[in-house]
Amino acid sequence: MTDDLDGWRARAGDLADRLVRQGAITDPVWREVVASVPRHAFVPAFYDDASGLVGAGDPRWLDAVYNDDTLVTQRMEHPEQPGFAWSTSSTTRPSLMLRMLELLDVSGGMTVLEVGTGTGYNAALLCERVSSGNVTSIDIDPALVDAARGRLADAGYRPHLAACDGALGCPGRAPFDRVIATVAFERVPWAWIEQVRPGGVVLADVRPRGMTWAGALARLTVDGDGTASGPLVDCTWGFMSARTGVERPGIPEVVHIDATSVRSRTSEVGAGALHTPGLSLLVWHRLPGVNAFPGEDGTQITAPDGSWAKVSTRVPARVEYGGPSDVWTDVEAAHAWWIEHGRPGVGAFGLTVEPDGQRLGRRTSEGTEPVGDLG
Ligand SMILES: C[S@@+](CC[C@H](N)C(=O)[O-])C[C@H]1O[C@@H](n2cnc3c(N)ncnc32)[C@H](O)[C@@H]1O
Repeated sequence: MTDDLDGWRARAGDLADRLVRQGAITDPVWREVVASVPRHAFVPAFYDDASGLVGAGDPRWLDAVYNDDTLVTQRMEHPEQPGFAWSTSSTTRPSLMLRMLELLDVSGGMTVLEVGTGTGYNAALLCERVSSGNVTSIDIDPALVDAARGRLADAGYRPHLAACDGALGCPGRAPFDRVIATVAFERVPWAWIEQVRPGGVVLADVRPRGMTWAGALARLTVDGDGTASGPLVDCTWGFMSARTGVERPGIPEVVHIDATSVRSRTSEVGAGALHTPGLSLLVWHRLPGVNAFPGEDGTQITAPDGSWAKVSTRVPARVEYGGPSDVWTDVEAAHAWWIEHGRPGVGAFGLTVEPDGQRLGRRTSEGTEPVGDLG
C-alpha cells in the first residue's frame, strides 16, 4: 500500500530535510528514519475545521501529511458537555516528535515504551530506529490500537502494542531503557519510573488539563535509588491531555462556581501572569487543578474548591472574585516568588519524581532546590 502513491519518498525526504534545517533533527540517523517512513500510511484521513474529514481522494491530503503539522485524526464530544468536538487523537507535528526523539537519546538495541500509540507513526519511527522487537506502544483506545497495528504491519513493522491506561505502563514488557509519552499527564506516573532501568530516561509531557500552555517536557533520569529527576524543557504547545476513560476527552471536569456573590479589588498582577512561561508553571504548582478561560479583555480562573477570579489583562488589574477564598492571592504569591528569583523561564526548573509524588525545583549550580509552597 505504501509504494503505490507516486512520490511519497520524495515528500518524506523533503520533510526530513526541512526538520534538519529547522534544527529539530541534528542526528543524520533520524533524518534517514523520517525519510524512510511513509507518514501517509498512518494518516488515511484527518479533520480539517472548515471542511470535516480530508482523506486520500482529496488533493490537499498528501501535502498536509508531509507538512510539519499536527493532524487531528479522532474527535468526540464530552458525554456531559455536548455541542463541542474535542480532539482525542492526532498525529503530532513531526518537528515536536523529532525534537523529543533526539532528547530521548535513543539508539539501536535499546528497549522503548511509547505511551500514546495514536496513528502508529511515532511507533514506526521508533521501530525503524531500534527495530520492532524493541518497541512497545500503548494507548487507552482499543480501536486506535487495532488500526495502528494494521498500518504498522502493512509498513513492515511489528512492535508490541496493547490497549490500556498509559498510567500503568506495560509491566509485562519491562524493564525499558526509555519511556516516551506522546500524551500529557499532570503527574508523571510512578509505574513508568519503576519500569525503567537505573540510568534510563523517561521523557514525559507534564501539563495541566485546565491551563495546557503552562506545561513542559520533563527529561528524567532514573536514579535507581527510588527517584527520577531532570530538567524541564520549554514546550508551550505540547500534547493533548490524557483521557481518564476511553469515552471521555482529556479535558477538565466542570467546576461549579457560585457567582452570586462577587467581590472586587485591584492587583498589580494582571492576567498576563497566567500566560508567561515559567511563571504560569509556578501558578499551576501553587494551584493544582486550576482551570483558565482566556477572554477578550482578561482571563477567568477557577480552583477545584469553587474559588474563582476574573482578572483584566491591563495593570493595575481589576479583580472580580468569589467562592471560598480569594484565589488571585495565589497567583500574586507565585508572581512575587518569580520576581524575587529573577524571572526564571521554564528551563530554569527541574522535576523530581518519587513514589509519593512529584516536586518542582529550581535548578542551581549545586543541583535542584525544591520551590516549596512559594509562600
Ligand atoms: C497526540 S496522540 C499520540 C500520537 C501518536 N504518538 C502518533 O504518532 O500518532 C495522543 C494519544 O494518547 C492517547 N491517550 C489518551 N489518554 C491516554 C491514556 N490515559 N493512556 C494511554 N493513551 C492515552 C490518545 O488516545 C491518543 O491516541
